[in-house]
Amino acid sequence: MAAGDSFYVATPIFYVNDVPHIGHAYTEVAADVLARWHRQAGDDTWLLTGTDEHGQKILRTAVANDTTPKAWADKLVADSWQPLLKTINISNDDFIRTTDERHETAVVFFMQKLYDAGFIYSGEYEGYYCVGCEEYKQLDDLMETPDGDFAGQLVCKIHGRPVEVLKEKNYFFRMSDFQQKLLDLYESQPDFIQPESVRNEIIQFVKQGLDDLSISRSSFDWGIQIPWDNSHVIYVWFEALLNYITAIGYGSDSENFERRWPAVQLVGKDIARFHAVIWPAMLMAAELPVPRRVFGHGWLLVGGEKMSKSKLTGIAPSEITDTFGVDAFRYYFMRAISFGQDGSFSWEDLSARYQSELANGFGNLASRVIAMVTRYRGGVIPTPGEFTEADEAIFATAIRATADADAAIERLAIHESLAAIWTLVEQLNGYITLQEPWALSKDEAKAERLDTVLYTVIRGLGTLAVLLSPVIPDAAGKLWTAIGGHGDVTGQNVRAAFDWTGEPAVTPLVSSLFPRIEQVDPGAAA
Ligand code: ME8
Ligand code: MG
Repeated sequence: MAAGDSFYVATPIFYVNDVPHIGHAYTEVAADVLARWHRQAGDDTWLLTGTDEHGQKILRTAVANDTTPKAWADKLVADSWQPLLKTINISNDDFIRTTDERHETAVVFFMQKLYDAGFIYSGEYEGYYCVGCEEYKQLDDLMETPDGDFAGQLVCKIHGRPVEVLKEKNYFFRMSDFQQKLLDLYESQPDFIQPESVRNEIIQFVKQGLDDLSISRSSFDWGIQIPWDNSHVIYVWFEALLNYITAIGYGSDSENFERRWPAVQLVGKDIARFHAVIWPAMLMAAELPVPRRVFGHGWLLVGGEKMSKSKLTGIAPSEITDTFGVDAFRYYFMRAISFGQDGSFSWEDLSARYQSELANGFGNLASRVIAMVTRYRGGVIPTPGEFTEADEAIFATAIRATADADAAIERLAIHESLAAIWTLVEQLNGYITLQEPWALSKDEAKAERLDTVLYTVIRGLGTLAVLLSPVIPDAAGKLWTAIGGHGDVTGQNVRAAFDWTGEPAVTPLVSSLFPRIEQVDPGAAA
């Protein structure tokens, strides 16, 4: 994309029935890396996240905790969900709650519009519902459990809990009208749903035919009222999906809405159907553009199963950041898991990558080079002499890594972007080993060569600081200051990372960028 273009990226809005775990943090970090990258490229960037607060699941949690749903949501947002963003250093531009007035007003506007256009009718719903999923279920989605607490009952395959049988008067959205339009969309915009595995699954699903969707409930009242019938509240998913446009001024600030929309949407593959089927159908009905992309990333697994709140397998992000730091958290999940695929979290793998890639590969490179400029050149970054092939190779790698990393970000292949950047880390380490600046320093006749070598490595380190700032903002900022970079590293164009500017002076690092971690004891960190 060209600098200045709108880049609007959104995460799902998370249920406030419980506290966040590293699965939620994973989506947040991915969206944040993309946002920081685009911001640093000069794109007109906006990062949205938030919370999903209506529906039966939240209502029941509140009741079970002797409180009201709004009080419960307020508490969880203030004590857990907002603090999560600090814990993992998310640079969101906005935070939407579905209980915000701005959301409720715009949802009502949207509903009335669809109703007036004839896309909503009243009918009778009879079928299954899983409160855990907040989803209407087909028999295919259920199974009978032979044993345990729910023996003999029909339970949701995802939550393993009994579903409810609903029989109520509901309003319906004419989703069946959109089957062919959706298939045409998937065909004409092949990257609308990514990755390929999720795209194929969605296409298969839509090809089987779409039913109209029940979009209201009348047996409880924790939700946004249907504007023409206040005995119903809007089905929680139907209004939650609207957050992506209500947050940017749909129905109230059309200038801002047009400036930002459509968004790149990152979601877990568990909710790809809502985002790639229901959501675009809703937008088409309202004659609004569909998202730029819907990316259904993979799951963090624990013991081979999706980590989840309802199965009590959640790991709190702070358990990791307390020991390894925020940057390592962000780096690890973006590097170790191919974005789009499932990944198993393990303390051993995290610890090994921390040590070899962050502490030894990158952190140590930075400390050594800064220390050499301090020791051999009194802290002044020298003016280079003539460049050799080895030096030119470093410059070429820096330029290639920048282009490759940017292209990977464009494809939402965040792990490939990091792999591209790491070619420069590895080449710089190899270069130092071969050039042996410590040996050059002992020979007065090789002073100019030493100047050139130190200069070359510092140029590479500056490029790394610029390229890594979206992923490891704290360490990149420290490195940037240490090598005399001008202003804030986030002011450097990430698409021209090699052309960074600074003063020719280093300031020693007060501590290693990634200090050695003596003992990793997840129990103690918890
Ligand atoms: O579904 N691995 O909210 P939710 C990776 N409110 N990502 C995971 C994960 C895991 N094990 N567990 C959760 C909802 N996530 C709705 C969304 S949007 C209009 C409404 C992440 O609290 C992933 O992004 O259940 C997943 O899609 C999301 O959390 C589900 O969060
Ligand atoms: Mg969920």
